[in-house]
Amino acid sequence: MMKTVTTPVPDSASTPQFKRWLTGRQQQVQQALQQIFCVPADESRLDAAMQYAVLGGGKRLRPLLAYAAAEALGGAAVTADLAACAVECMHAYSLIHDDLPAMDDDVLRRGQPTCHVKFDEATAILAGDALQALAFEILVSTKTPELAPALRLRMVQELAMASGRNGMVAGQALDMAATGVQLAESKISRMHQLKTGALITASVMLGALSTGLATADQLVALRSFAEAAGLSFQIQDDILDVEASTSVSGKEQGKDARQHKATYTSTLGLQAAKTRLVQVAAQAQAALQDFGPNAAMLRQLAQYLVERKA
Ligand code: IPE
Ligand code: IPE
Ligand code: MG
Ligand code: MG
Ligand code: MG
Repeated sequence: MMKTVTTPVPDSASTPQFKRWLTGRQQQVQQALQQIFCVPADESRLDAAMQYAVLGGGKRLRPLLAYAAAEALGGAAVTADLAACAVECMHAYSLIHDDLPAMDDDVLRRGQPTCHVKFDEATAILAGDALQALAFEILVSTKTPELAPALRLRMVQELAMASGRNGMVAGQALDMAATGVQLAESKISRMHQLKTGALITASVMLGALSTGLATADQLVALRSFAEAAGLSFQIQDDILDVEASTSVSGKEQGKDARQHKATYTSTLGLQAAKTRLVQVAAQAQAALQDFGPNAAMLRQLAQYLVERKA
């Protein structure tokens, strides 16, 4: 079994209660993921690469969003474990492929060699492929007796639509096509909503659906929240590429500019990107206005997405 590594919670305006919640839920998803990968990593190179990509760190923001959305509706976090694990596997796959030489050609992720550097390109491609399939297997096969089959089906649909040709992969295709191109803000916002926002939205929706408690109005509000939160997350990712040192972010600083990537900072400039970040983050908070105190962790998590330094 690989060593447990989770990214520590940085100092921010977060309350001690939120920091405890965040650490507890990071541990919860880590344990749930370790149960899925219970075969020894050295038995197969493919499995070793998958475990390297999933168990070796990360902030676990998408699982946290799934848990927080479930809790905002009065649901139990444990019922959301399958949602949390599924979205993290999908995310890990997207990172492996995003880092490949044919895409962003990155050698560093979470302060460690990227999957294709640690293993080899073919193994990394296959590990990503298998993680994508595993995400759906988790949704369909995880024993969660309280979860109605019809809700599982909606979760599968939500994740499939967020990940594929009208979601994350579509956004990645726009990203590749936009390299070296100066995009208008409307275009870059669309690209970010697809490549990053779609999976973040699916994380919130899967967590909400896992409770079986969400009303149609609540799902609409949570989707608006997640779309704004997802965009804000990627704007901050673009800002951190400029501002965060490699040792803090675990990714190579300044890579976007060197590769002529279309980002919020290349389109608007750093200061205007920061202004837009505050506006979009406020939209996310506003979408939660009808939720009561149960949504406290979700609100703080959305704030953490934009305050994070890594
Ligand atoms: C990085 O996501 C990829 C983007 C969509 C910008 P995270 O910043 O959530 O990565 P980890 O999982 O914490 O490493
Ligand atoms: C990645 O966006 C979006 C994904 C679908 C993985 P980036 O290319 O900006 O993510 P990082 O900066 O490499 O983590
Ligand atoms: Mg990329
Ligand atoms: Mg990248
Ligand atoms: Mg980036």
